[in-house]
Amino acid sequence: MAKPTLTFVCQSCGAAFSKWSGRCDGCGEWNTIAEEKPLSEGPAKQALGGRGRAVTLTDLAANEAPPPRTAAGLDELDRVLGGGLVPASAVLVGGDPGIGKSTLLLQAAAAFARSGLKVIYVSGEEASAQVRLRAQRLGLADAPVQLAAETNLRDILTTLDNERPDLAIVDSIQTMWADNVGSAPGSVSQVRAAAHELTSFAKKRGSAVIMVGHVTKDGQIAGPRVVEHMVDTVLYFEGERGHQFRILRSVKNRFGPADEIGVFEMTGGGLAQVTNPSALFLSERGQPAPGSVVFSGIEGTRPVLVELQALVAPSPHSQPRRSVVGWDGSRLAMILAVLESRCGIPFAGLDVYLNVAGGMKISEPAADLAVAAALLSAREDSALPPETVVFGEISLSGALRPVGQAENRLKEAQKLGFSTAIMPKGGKAAKGAGMKLSQMSDLTSFVGDVFGAG
Ligand code: TYD
Ligand code: MG
Repeated sequence: MAKPTLTFVCQSCGAAFSKWSGRCDGCGEWNTIAEEKPLSEGPAKQALGGRGRAVTLTDLAANEAPPPRTAAGLDELDRVLGGGLVPASAVLVGGDPGIGKSTLLLQAAAAFARSGLKVIYVSGEEASAQVRLRAQRLGLADAPVQLAAETNLRDILTTLDNERPDLAIVDSIQTMWADNVGSAPGSVSQVRAAAHELTSFAKKRGSAVIMVGHVTKDGQIAGPRVVEHMVDTVLYFEGERGHQFRILRSVKNRFGPADEIGVFEMTGGGLAQVTNPSALFLSERGQPAPGSVVFSGIEGTRPVLVELQALVAPSPHSQPRRSVVGWDGSRLAMILAVLESRCGIPFAGLDVYLNVAGGMKISEPAADLAVAAALLSAREDSALPPETVVFGEISLSGALRPVGQAENRLKEAQKLGFSTAIMPKGGKAAKGAGMKLSQMSDLTSFVGDVFGAG
């Protein structure tokens, strides 16, 4: 039997089908299936060898100057970009609707324009009047930013081609409409086309392009990962509703370190920079309380102190709750398991809640020990000694592993008035710079020393 020719391919996951459908069975995305010519069609496949032109090869040791950068003068933004904006780079800023992306980018547009760049701000979401009103409210009305409210990608590209700005900001790629793509704005094919066209424009003309992308429910920038791999830099703008803090995080950066964060606060007058995030994240902290532990973390290149809060209570349910905000749920399960099996401290029948204060999200394993300390402190209803910070990784055997940048963590803690650090033994000899160091090699001795149990 002849194989059916598969001519419909999902543009999101690559699954192939023999007929079109609205929803891809492979990845569940809508409107991603498009007709494609099968590879075997046309002249028989020919071997590629020997038919091309020779490509020039160069040494790695060429004396390449670092890319010239323009700083906006907003330190929290410049740092996340890797030290300023690089010409011809494509940047994607993702985030939940309403988190403050348009506000951030309008402020960035004004800042870059004031530092001498020619900036065009294209809004596909708001009318020019709305953007002008916002600029007025933010005190940015006098910044030399050129504004357009447009969604037609062809017209936008023509305009950008004529104007040759140093920076074009497009808010958002979900509203852009390419007339050569058959599907509706916001669909994967449209988003992909828009991101592709804007990225090529950046590369061809040397303009930097910043695109806004709304994040879908499951936390991905719509037009799934397709857009992320096209651009040079991916930033996420995060924050918890009900908190004023906003964190701009670089998850990919071809021109700088990833995992760098910038911290802002949403105020009535727009986003204000937070230059000392540790003070901010600890600001609501009162007296030392059971379940509360300060973790000395590293975000990107900066140490940041955050408070971890745990609550452990008898569970009315047959299956006790494990609830985490701001940390990894499976990592919490691991630490509970290590506490149970290596230190003999059961959590069965107890509900466990863990929260990172201030809407911060932590992904470092260095927080393990601080999490264990918060859980124990909550369980034993006994507060840690005051002015203590905790950090260290826990292995499945219950051993404590040293973590990187211990010295920076200690310095930041000391700067904020902490006097004691509980941390793993070993690693690069960390000098405490006036801090009292309580170094331990395994979780059992930690439990014994700090809580007199175990
Ligand atoms: P916005 O930038 O429109 O979010 P996004 O582009 O990510 O959808 O900002 C939305 C919220 O920010 C809105 O609910 C109001 C608030 N906001 C302030 O609190 N202060 C301000 O100065 C501005 C401009 C917005
Ligand atoms: Mg917006």
